[in-house]
Amino acid sequence: MKKLCVIIILALLLVIGAMGWFFVVRGTTEQGADGRTVILLKPSDRDFLLAEMRGWLESVQGISAALAENDMKEAAQIARKAGNADLDHVPASLLRSIPLEFKQLGLGTHEAFATLAKSIEEGADAKQALKMLSGIMLNCTGCHAGYRVDPKAP
Ligand code: HEC
Repeated sequence: MKKLCVIIILALLLVIGAMGWFFVVRGTTEQGADGRTVILLKPSDRDFLLAEMRGWLESVQGISAALAENDMKEAAQIARKAGNADLDHVPASLLRSIPLEFKQLGLGTHEAFATLAKSIEEGADAKQALKMLSGIMLNCTGCHAGYRVDPKAP
């Protein structure tokens, strides 16, 4: 009887572990024909993610324009906004669908913008800030090389 209980508990743990791996680590993904991992998202989540992305591109544009003018205050302000990783407004279904590594890369990018804002506020000059911005953009290019998003069939 005791042995049976242990076996049942182990089996349940295995199922929970597999579900955790499936939902948290892997997300809803498949292998794409172009070699990238395809994240399957419902259309509204895909729209949300792509809108966030366009916001990031606007931030990169704004920061580089400000740095070219040596307007450090403006650059810090835009970086501070892009660094604000407010997960409350992110749809839960989107968070469930994206793989763990993608989440980490995304949050890491927010953090990198926040670090840039802080460095500028603490006196980094335009050249140093530009170097940090180019480092942040390795996150953009790295993630784009590895992932794409397709709408999930209803
Ligand atoms: C965690 C992963 C990740 C990071 C980091 C990331 N992106 Fe993206 N981005 C994506 C994915 C996935 C797509 C969709 C690509 C596709 O389906 O081909 C995308 C799409 C885009 C698009 C197209 C938006 C549209 O409307 O089609 C832009 C612009 C963009 N990203 C800008 C950026 C910029 C700028 C950065 C860095 C500051 C960045 N992204 C960082 C994953 C990421």
